Order: sequence, then C-alpha cells, then structure tokens
Amino acid sequence: MNKYAGNDCVTVEGLDRDDLEQLFDLAQKMDKIVKDRTTAELLKGSILGLMFFQVSTRTRISFESAMRRLGGSVVGFVDPKTTRIGDYYAESMHDVVRMMENYADVLVIRHPENGAPEMAGTITEIPVINAGDGDNEHPTQALLDLYTIRCEKGTIDDLKIGFVGDMNLRVFHSLPIALAQYNAKAYFISPPEVSMSSTWIEEFRQAGLDFEEISSLDEIIDNLDVIYMEGVKTPSYHIGRTDSVGIRPDMPHEWILDSKKVKRLKSDAIILHPLPRTEELPMEVDASESARYFAQAGYAVPVRMALLSLILDRIP
Ligand code: CP
Repeated sequence: MNKYAGNDCVTVEGLDRDDLEQLFDLAQKMDKIVKDRTTAELLKGSILGLMFFQVSTRTRISFESAMRRLGGSVVGFVDPKTTRIGDYYAESMHDVVRMMENYADVLVIRHPENGAPEMAGTITEIPVINAGDGDNEHPTQALLDLYTIRCEKGTIDDLKIGFVGDMNLRVFHSLPIALAQYNAKAYFISPPEVSMSSTWIEEFRQAGLDFEEISSLDEIIDNLDVIYMEGVKTPSYHIGRTDSVGIRPDMPHEWILDSKKVKRLKSDAIILHPLPRTEELPMEVDASESARYFAQAGYAVPVRMALLSLILDRIP
C-alpha cells in the first residue's frame, strides 16, 4: 500500500512507522543511483513545479537534483520578485497555484507564512509538498533527518536524541512528531526564553513522544546518541548575517558546540545540523568523527527521490 500516492505532504502527522520505513527502504534503493552519479527514467515525463517564496540552498537544489536523477524535469521560481507576484499586480497565491497546476505534476512550496502550502493544497488537485512554512513545519527535512539517523546509527529505536537551540524553529517541530513512531527519547535543550511552545508540547504528547525539556546542554551532553544542533539566537530571515552584526546578540558560549564539548560526547554519538549554521557549530567541529551534517544534507537527494516516486505513484 502506498499512502503517499497522489497526496499532499504538508506535515509529517498521519505518517505511521510503516509509511516512514517504506520511504526509507525506497530511499536506500535510490541511494545507489545517487552514489553511481547516474540517472534513471522512473519519473520521465513528470514535471516538478518549484514555488519558493523564501530563499533556500539545500531544500530547493536537492529537490531539483532528485527530480532530474529520476529523469523528470523542473519548472518554477526561486524568487517571487521575478514573477507577477512581485510587480504591480501582486498576483495572489491562489491564482499562481491555479497557473502552476497546468505547468507541473507536483508542487514544492516554501513560504514564510504558516499553513501556506496546506492552503495551496486545497486549491489544486495536484500534490503539494511543504518545503518549510514559517515557524510551523519542515516535513521533508524531518524525513531526511530520520533517514540519516537510520543510516548512520543503524537504528532509530532506543536512542537519546538531543535537540539544541531555538525551539521555535520549524525543524524542531516536524522531526519530533515523526520520531514519536519510534522508541526513542527526545530532549529539548534550550534556554527558557526560546523553549518549546505549549502548543507543540501538546502536539508531541498527543503523538505519544517520550520527551524531556532541559535548560542546560552541559547537564545532558555526555548521554546523547544524537545531538541535533541549531542556534539559540536565530538570525532574522530578513536581515543578512553580516548586516545584523551589532543588532543580533552574540551566541552565548554555553550554547556553542565547540571541540571541547565534542570531546564529551559518547564515542559513537553523531552531530546533526540542518544547515545553514551560525556560531553554534564552529568549523573546527567538521573534522570530528561525530560530524554527520554534510552527510545529512546529502541524504536529502535519495529521500526526496523516494518521496517524489511515492507521491507520483511510480515505484520501481
Ligand atoms: N535545511 C534547509 O532547509 O536548508 P535550506 O534553507 O538551505 O533549504
């Protein structure tokens, strides 16, 4: 059974363990195509439509790469200012989605407003994939994060997974929901001022997630199997990092995973980060045996290849 077929992927809610494992097993098959640096014809004739209202490096380019690796093609925009959305007409999301459904077979939408991809899904019959909406969800990031853990640790069950940083970030919402399908324990590690909102805490409870909130990285770092880093001082999406010097507060040292802290990790612990990074993950850590964030960004391609195949119901 393929629960993904013809459906939107705007949240990880509703995906059970069998659905996740089906996707990961298929991603493992897709991985061979990626590693061999070749292409297949599975999605030949299919067109992916990109609608990026916010900038992206990994999500957009890995979706493009995934579609092209499977023989499909890609249309769309990566900056709404280059379309009629950005000129005098300020063309509405509604009208643009109505156009795009004529030009593509599946849409990938990133938008600064919570719920925008879900709303798009109500306008069109073609499947919509959420590539990140506001501070709500980033479901395909969660899928590739879980796949990374499965590949790099051999299992997702029985692991202690620490999420470090500003809990308002969308990557910290989708992954715990999906993680609830496994017997892992989540630790939300942040200063109180950027702790998990009560709304998401309630969502995690309802999903059946085993979790704990902790306000000190120092307290837990030695016990983690996976440490998923983000900054506790999130830069504004609207002001460049260099332009925000002097406006944005410095990252407190206790929330920076430097080499000294890395030495305290379990010898087989892995470090993840969705990237891009700021001061919370210095480049000195890249040489560590535990660093897996570049591999994580690489797993984006086979996972998104698998997702596109399942949604378009063309399984090899
Ligand atoms: N991880 C992630 O979403 O990166 P981008 O913002 O570059 O797509």
